[in-house]
Order: sequence, then structure tokens, then C-alpha cells
Amino acid sequence: MRTPAALMLLAVTLAGCGPKPEPGATLMSWAYPQTKDPAPPPPATSDPVHVPGSALAFTRAQIMDDANPVDWFPDEHPAPPPVVAHQPPGGPTPCAECHLYDGHGFLAAADLAGLSPAYIIQQVQEFRAGRRQSAVHDRPDSLEMIKAAQKVTDPDLAQAAAYFAALPRKPFVRVVETDAAPVTKAISYGWLELVPNGGTEPIKGRIIEVSEDMPALYLADPHVGIVDYVPPGAVSRGEALVKRGGQGGQPCAACHGPELKGAGDVPPLAGRAATYLARALWDIKTGARSGPAVALMQAPAKGLSEAEITDVVAYLASRRP
Ligand code: HEC
Ligand code: HEC
Repeated sequence: MRTPAALMLLAVTLAGCGPKPEPGATLMSWAYPQTKDPAPPPPATSDPVHVPGSALAFTRAQIMDDANPVDWFPDEHPAPPPVVAHQPPGGPTPCAECHLYDGHGFLAAADLAGLSPAYIIQQVQEFRAGRRQSAVHDRPDSLEMIKAAQKVTDPDLAQAAAYFAALPRKPFVRVVETDAAPVTKAISYGWLELVPNGGTEPIKGRIIEVSEDMPALYLADPHVGIVDYVPPGAVSRGEALVKRGGQGGQPCAACHGPELKGAGDVPPLAGRAATYLARALWDIKTGARSGPAVALMQAPAKGLSEAEITDVVAYLASRRP
């Protein structure tokens, strides 16, 4: 039988350990929404489906077909190469399924529009080689990207890179400073959705990122933007950090271009989704994203604390791309 002393010791031991962390949990858990609940059923739609501004109509079955992502606005971009639009037997999921035809991407997928072709190719090679992972190793969307990288052939990758690099960068992020963010829940793909009629809750140093219109995004409407709710004052604190460069670092613009719009093969930062940028910085800082390609970026990322990353990405997301 346990003595009271043994029970107390057990209690102290448990308090010392704290609750057992979820596998893969990180400090910046707000940037890596996770749940074990299954993905919600696709939104109910009746055939045929339309989105505002497009004369096209698709059936629900076409919209659900991952192997042939629907293209609502074919006049708004050049003709995509096959690897972007269709999945051959055994081939990768088409890039547009996640990055969309305009390159701005689904929630949680990176925006690829206007990145340099060499950078796109190099990053896919990094995913393939295992040097680019998520700090949360079992994050489903990053694992999907790694799978695509392993399956895409080099000639197809070169065509995809040329396609996305030629697309214009467009504003698609709205940053809102607030004490009270909408109440959200994690979706197993790795993003947040609004809780219907959920009201608001204190933002508490986090960034809460949601789609402007999730039902429309589930239809793959590329005109739907992103809202980033950020803590009050984050944008101006972030601006100061970006200009100073964090702890003894260089100003970010020294490598990312005077307006943070990218320089050569160094990627743009202005107007990108805040949680994507936060995950990128955290993945680099923790070494989940490693290897020679990212060596120049190691010191700037290591110099930033979690709170500083929050401010920096709030500022970067608020800039015009
Ligand atoms: C199933 C979804 C999915 C598919 C299909 C997909 N990607 Fe991705 N991609 C992602 C996600 C999610 C990320 C972010 C992963 C991360 O940072 O951990 C990403 C990131 C990237 C990046 C990094 C961008 C940056 O700024 O560093 C590149 C480049 C990229 N993808 C290219 C491609 C290409 C080319 C294809 C088609 C051959 C493709 N992706 C197919 C989901 C996908
Ligand atoms: C010495 C040059 C240099 C400086 C200074 C620098 N960066 Fe970078 N940064 C890079 C390079 C090079 C890459 C591409 C890394 C790779 O290939 O994976 C990069 C990548 C990034 C990425 C990932 C982008 C993506 O598409 O995934 C982010 C985010 C980033 N930098 C933010 C910053 C911030 C914020 C600062 C300032 C605090 C900064 N960088 C300062 C060179 C630099």
C-alpha cells in the first residue's frame, strides 16, 4: 500500500515533470495547429458548383478529385505544365492541388508565386533529401510535400518551377492587430478553422491565422485570402527587429532585398502568410530545416526568440508583396 509520503513524492515528481507533452509538440504550438480528430467531411455543395467571378461550373466530384485539381480562372495564368495540373499513375499529387494555380496556395501550403526557379528546385530537392522537415515531424501537410518531392521527376520539377516563378506576387494576407482573436479549432491537415458562433478569446501572444472564407477555399477558389490576427503592437515591434536584424544579426533586407521582396535566389518575405513564415523560422532555428542551402539563414533565425518571431512575421505579413 502506498504511504502518504510516497503519494506526496509521486505528486512532486509528477508536478516536476509536468504533463507529458504531445509527441512533436513545440514551443510555438500556435504556428503548428494539430489534432488527432479526423478531418471534417467536405462542405455540402449541390451540383453544379460556382465561385464568384468565374463563368465555369464544376461538379462536386470534380472538386473532390485530388488527381485533377479544378482551375476556376484559366485566363489568369499561363497554361500549366502537366505536373502542376494532373497526376499520372504513381506520380506526385499535382502541385496545384495544394499551391493552387495562382501559386498562392491553400492555408498552410507555402505561396510559390514569383519565387526564383532555382530556389523552388532547390527546396524540393531539400524536402526529397530529408534536409527540410517540419519541427513537428508528423505534421501531415509537410509530410505530403515530402511525398510529392520524392515522386516528382527532375524534368517535371523544372517545368513546375518555371511555371510558379513566372506568376505575379499578389497581396493575399490581411493583418489585424487585436487583443481578442476569434475562437478556432485545429483541423487535422494542420490549419485552424473558426468555431461557428464561437466568439472571441484573448490572443495571448499568438498569431491566429484563418481563411477569409473557408467554404470557398475548400472549393479551391484562389481569390480567397488569409487573415492573420496578431497581438497589439506586433507590427511596429516587428518592423524594428527586421531593420535591426535581431540579436546582433544583419538587417533582413541585407539578403532579402530592400523591400523584403526577394533578391536573386533569396526568397521574398513581404506579404507572405504569417504562420508559414513563423514555421519557416522555427524550422530553421531548431535545425529541422538544415543543410548547406540554409546555412546563411541559420544565424538570423537563431537570434530570434519565439516572441520576436511572432512580431517579425506579423510585420512581414503586413507588407505589400
Ligand atoms: C499535398 C500538398 C502539396 C503538394 C501536392 C505540393 N506541395 Fe509544395 N508544399 C506543401 C506544403 C504544406 C509546404 C510547406 C511545407 C513546410 O514548410 O514544412 C510546401 C512547400 C513547398 C515549397 C517551399 C516554398 C518555400 O518558400 O520555401 C516548394 C518550393 C514547393 N512546395 C513546391 C512544390 C511543387 C513544385 C509541387 C509539385 C511538384 C508541390 N510543391 C506539391 C504542400 C504541397
Ligand atoms: C545573410 C543573409 C540573410 C539574412 C541577413 C537573412 N536571411 Fe532569411 N534567408 C536567407 C537565405 C539564403 C534563405 C533561403 C534558405 C534556404 O535555401 O533554405 C533565407 C530564408 C528565409 C526564410 C524562409 C523563407 C521560405 O520561403 O521558406 C525566412 C522566413 C527568412 N529567411 C526570414 C529572415 C528574417 C526574418 C531575417 C532577419 C531577421 C532574415 N531572414 C535575414 C538569407 C538571409
